[in-house]
Amino acid sequence: MEIEPDCSISVNLASGLMSGRRVGEIVRTLADLAGIFADEQARRSMPQEQPVYRVQSYTPVEEGVNGGLFWGVTFLYPGRVGDEYFMTKGHFHTIRNRAEYYVTVNGFGALILMEEDGSTRLDWMMPGTVHYIPGHTAHRVANTGSTTLSFLACWPSDAGHDYGVIAEHGFGGRVMCVNNAPALVPQS
Ligand code: F6R
Ligand code: MN
Repeated sequence: MEIEPDCSISVNLASGLMSGRRVGEIVRTLADLAGIFADEQARRSMPQEQPVYRVQSYTPVEEGVNGGLFWGVTFLYPGRVGDEYFMTKGHFHTIRNRAEYYVTVNGFGALILMEEDGSTRLDWMMPGTVHYIPGHTAHRVANTGSTTLSFLACWPSDAGHDYGVIAEHGFGGRVMCVNNAPALVPQS
């Protein structure tokens, strides 16, 4: 269903922060990310209420509508669980062929991309980089810097989010701090 467009939505282009009555917001804390990091014991020993990322989104049509677009921004805080950088849960789109754009606003990170056969690669993120995430490709972002990593996103309103496959099998690699630098470490 088409919802009346809201012209009072705005985005601060310096920070990515959105404002407007219809902007939704969710926060993911360490408690929400159980089982996501390699070192589950390290995650459990950290303050569970600590925010790892915050997502703002603008959804001018209902979720599931074919032909619409959603807009969002993610603020991924700096930090590590053991040697693994703070990261998003990661997902495939439920409708597998749905693509997405990410655009980095601030900070430094790695976009982890995995095809359905498990092959995994990285795209480095820095202010201004534009990332086209093709369909059939799971995506997750790790903050490899010491400041908040913020990125804009635009995706089809019927894409949907499938977190199950990633929760069960993970990606083909993890972005870890190795000798003081980020590296993609293949998952055994
Ligand atoms: C939407 C999208 C992003 C992520 C956000 C949080 O399709 O890819 O808006 O939803 O960066 O990551 P997840 O959803 O993996 O927790
Ligand atoms: Mn997505």
